[in-house]
Amino acid sequence: MTRLSELSTPQRRAVEAIREIAAEKNLRPYLVGGPVRDLLHGSRTIDVDVTLEEGAPELARALAKRIEGRVRSFPQFLTYKVTAEGFPEIDITTARKERYRVPGALPIVSEGSLKDDLIRRDFSVNAIALGLLDEKTHDPTNGEQDIRDRLIRVLHDQSFRDDPTRIFRAVRLATRLGFTIEPHTASLMKEAIESRALETVSRERIWREVFLAMDEHEAPAVLAALHEQCALDVLFGCRHNPELRAQLDGVRARIEKDPSLDRYVIYTGLLLRGDASPVDFEGSGFSQKRARAVVEIANELPRFHEALEHVKNERQRFRLYRGVSPEMLTVVAVERPDERPRIDRWREYKQFTIQLRGNDLEVPTGPHIAKALERTREAVFNGEIEPDQARTYAREMAKKYLAREEKA
Ligand code: CTP
Repeated sequence: MTRLSELSTPQRRAVEAIREIAAEKNLRPYLVGGPVRDLLHGSRTIDVDVTLEEGAPELARALAKRIEGRVRSFPQFLTYKVTAEGFPEIDITTARKERYRVPGALPIVSEGSLKDDLIRRDFSVNAIALGLLDEKTHDPTNGEQDIRDRLIRVLHDQSFRDDPTRIFRAVRLATRLGFTIEPHTASLMKEAIESRALETVSRERIWREVFLAMDEHEAPAVLAALHEQCALDVLFGCRHNPELRAQLDGVRARIEKDPSLDRYVIYTGLLLRGDASPVDFEGSGFSQKRARAVVEIANELPRFHEALEHVKNERQRFRLYRGVSPEMLTVVAVERPDERPRIDRWREYKQFTIQLRGNDLEVPTGPHIAKALERTREAVFNGEIEPDQARTYAREMAKKYLAREEKA
């Protein structure tokens, strides 16, 4: 029993267009991988992945034409990507075999049968195909049973060594679907981690997996499990942080409320808590600014907490807040509930604007103008002055700062 009719609208429209073209051109496309897994499991699927033994280029070109999209070709993966307004991303690939010559490196790809294409995959739940014309499933590794049993199972004992990124994929998928990693698979995974299989993979590919983990809705659970199983040691060395899960859970709620926060920075800072240095970021692609924000969270929290103990008034407190990133403040807000309302107020303050510009002050230009405007914004926000006093106040402050500059 298949559930193509249960696809959500954009995916269903894509599949219908593919079916029409396949019938006209006598092609045999199969839906494969994630979408089939999600359909059988009853979860929401996003991408459309289609495989054919023959005719992938023909189908891709005809589909792009029919849905008024464009097609890009990736010959090294025997793949075509079709994109069009109002449609999900559609991958059309020629069924393939894979051979891993060197563990951890990308595989050598050649054309193969549908079965070859299914048995080369990571887990049984991802190795099911669904014929788009006859709606029959092809399930050579018993993936449907594993979906019913809620199990993540590799297809052979060499799987994690061939492609150690599957360690991350297993944890990510198991957490997302609420599945268990089947015991033999779990022991192969442990063995691969202990024998340092991840060192055969480039740091860039590992960081990509870490970022994908951070994109998950259940990111704290995924990251904590990876940390516990020492899968992150390859990037950060061996670390112990029994509080990690609670810390990650704490920040997630705030990240969800404020999408402008950089979750990669916050989560990485927590993973590196205690001691971060630039070598930890090799391969991450973090800009210097973002790397600095990570280091701040990892290394500077104790000092920041201490400095907070010594502030005497709101202005000093805001000065302290101003010196750190919004991501750092997010962690502080989670760890010090008493500080939270003030941090929220500070964030409000940062958004606060007054209708006044330097030209309005009629004072010679210079750095004192910006300072005066900033001081005025603060004074209006704090209620020290009324908004209609802002201009006079700013002018006075600018004159005062100017006099100070001239004296200095
Ligand atoms: N795959 C694999 N080994 C990998 C990566 C991918 O065998 N290291 C196979 C799996 O069969 C997977 C398919 O390629 O289902 C597509 O990969 P991807 O799009 O990364 O994953 P999805 O299963 O579609 O999962 P997601 O929902 O996370 O996109």
